[in-house]
Amino acid sequence: MERFEPRKFIARKIQALRSFASGKRIIVAVSGGIDSIVCFELALAATTKSNEKPIPIILDTGLLRLNEVKETEEYFRKQYGIELQKWEVQDRFLSALKGIIIPEEKRKIFREVFYRTMGQALRSYSAEILVQGTILPNIIETQKEIKTHFNVLQEAGIDPQNYGIILFEPLKELTKTRVRMLARSLSIPPKFLRIQPFPGIGFAARITGEITIDRIEKIRLATSIVESELSSPKIFQGFPVLFVDRVTGIQNNVAAVGDVIAIRIVETKDTLTAKSYRVPWVKIEKIAKRILSEVPGTVRVVYDVTPKPPGTIEFV
Ligand code: XMP
Repeated sequence: MERFEPRKFIARKIQALRSFASGKRIIVAVSGGIDSIVCFELALAATTKSNEKPIPIILDTGLLRLNEVKETEEYFRKQYGIELQKWEVQDRFLSALKGIIIPEEKRKIFREVFYRTMGQALRSYSAEILVQGTILPNIIETQKEIKTHFNVLQEAGIDPQNYGIILFEPLKELTKTRVRMLARSLSIPPKFLRIQPFPGIGFAARITGEITIDRIEKIRLATSIVESELSSPKIFQGFPVLFVDRVTGIQNNVAAVGDVIAIRIVETKDTLTAKSYRVPWVKIEKIAKRILSEVPGTVRVVYDVTPKPPGTIEFV
């Protein structure tokens, strides 16, 4: 395999974006994760005197982690002196996803609302180009019809022009490991290298059955518990999933019917395959105990030992 040289790759992409954009205004879709931060750095570096700085925009879909939007806004202010454009579009996403229980439908609906909104954003800032951080595994899985990743358009047979968008995807040949190499080379703060990867469709990937505000709140809380308890560098992703089932349990000494939360912690090199991480028993018990006492209505916590394949990393 050809040796990957981050510096050369970065220089090549900056040059490519400069000639691709040639004076056109650029928007960068930001999620708070490493892929989109790297994209923003590339877009910023590609800025020439003849065009203005790229506009970073985050869609608050209502499906993001606790404080994710706020912390990303602060980062843009501090690091770049740039105001991250926050679009509060929770209602659009949640009403479109209302009543939807089939995983593939959830992802496709999310994709539709996301790009319709981004098209609107481009028009409102008089921009033409959308830079986004789609990576190689997203494309491979979509093409193989394992799952439709919301951020894959052309390879799924969709013309971004349908939404009034010209796309530039500088990371589409790379795995997450390589994106992290770029981040190091760009001196992006190590905090971003430690952030747990989070799916673009957010908690829509981690709630089976219907997505409601109440259920999002539960999984958001459980996620902050799980993430705060995990630190091993061997862990690629560790997160909870809220099941649709309501099962029998006991709460405050009386019979109760409540939620089941699964914990999934995986090791992987390229996300195309993965194995369940062998968490020390005391750790998993501590996580379970915290979820059972801190997430209202949870009566059961289970640990997922499924490899990928046949399981995928996310449940949806
Ligand atoms: P799966 O569930 O496909 O996850 O085994 C592989 C990696 O991709 C992330 N993931 C997604 N990312 N849109 C995304 O942008 C999605 O629909 C999506 N589904 C999964 C997942 O978190 C893991 O890192």
